[in-house]
Amino acid sequence: MRPEVVEAMKPFFENNYGNPSSFHSMGLKAKQALDSSRETVAKCLNCKPSEVIFTGSGTESCNMAIKGSAYAHMKTGKHMITQKTEHHAVLHSLEWLEKTHDFEVTYLDVDKYGLISLSELENAIRDDTILVTIMYANNEIGTIQPLQDIARITKKHNVLFHTDACQGGGLLEIDVQKLGVDMMTLNGSKIYGLKGTGLLYMRAGVKIESWIHGGGHEFGLRAGTENIPGIVGLAKALELGQAERRFESKRLNQLKNYFIDNVLKNIPDTFLNGHPTQRLPNNANITFLNVEGEALVLMLDYEGIYTSSGSACTSQKLKPSHVILAIGLPYEASHGSIRFSLGKRTTKEDIDYVLEKLPAIVERLRMLSPVRLTKSEVLNE
Ligand SMILES: Cc1ncc(COP(=O)(O)O)c(C=O)c1O
Repeated sequence: MRPEVVEAMKPFFENNYGNPSSFHSMGLKAKQALDSSRETVAKCLNCKPSEVIFTGSGTESCNMAIKGSAYAHMKTGKHMITQKTEHHAVLHSLEWLEKTHDFEVTYLDVDKYGLISLSELENAIRDDTILVTIMYANNEIGTIQPLQDIARITKKHNVLFHTDACQGGGLLEIDVQKLGVDMMTLNGSKIYGLKGTGLLYMRAGVKIESWIHGGGHEFGLRAGTENIPGIVGLAKALELGQAERRFESKRLNQLKNYFIDNVLKNIPDTFLNGHPTQRLPNNANITFLNVEGEALVLMLDYEGIYTSSGSACTSQKLKPSHVILAIGLPYEASHGSIRFSLGKRTTKEDIDYVLEKLPAIVERLRMLSPVRLTKSEVLNE
């Protein structure tokens, strides 16, 4: 976590441990912190404070947007649209609605870069479509979807549009008026805030049904005593991230491109996954053919380099990533895809250290591999 975020949170673990629902002065201080955090977030998103609902994670916000819309609008229709590289917070929520409430879901294909087709999206909208949920930036391959174009289509057809923007909070534009979204999910853990914190932006007038019942917290939409330190930290992290976003995106883009160029130049049979330019500034997902991804992650770990095969949430399963399969990589090639994420503290020296260690590790693992694929075979070049 960012030290400034930890500092901002500290008083609410210590002297200001009030409950914002209490009438005494300590409760009032907590209520003031809650209100001012909501205002800070609203400024960052360019929306009204009453359009911000604090939750317990990005997963919860996605569930809330999807299941909440389903319950509120199922009399109008039971069809939703998404795409195949979404996070499981979205995919599994939709699968649950299919299984338990007879919803129909269209899972749009993506191209080799991970982008949806806008014409396919528009063609998939039906009279009974109530929600389109398409992520902002992909957590594995970094591809950024064209939210403004999607919003134009959903508006034209009068369908709600939710975006899972967990990967965008620290580095991308999150002005909801510019993006045109009706609902947007963000979380703390991706922006140097506290893990287990999140929020849902909901445009005024959008109706969803609450599915966590209890007290009237969060405008009656999310019952439960508010996590004041976490909320204060989330607001602080978002505010700092957005203030530094342009500078930090530029710095990370330069470092990331330097890293990608050198890996592809120095290690044969490697290629970049995701869009070459329309991607997160901090994400480099690279396939190393004829390498077992998990073994590569472990060997890099011995050198103090922390990477991921698949998404961090699912990488303990030895299944190829659904994202890598969706962009069309064959099964045998999908195992050697590794995600390198750069961050605030990543320097050129760090990148040079990884570039120094990587070739020998890949070479050693390739000697053990029974698979012999070439880049031209896999990419049909
Ligand atoms: C794109 C995306 N959506 C949803 C989530 C889930 O968020 P959380 O871990 O806060 O539940 C993540 C992981 O952080 C993510 O990267």
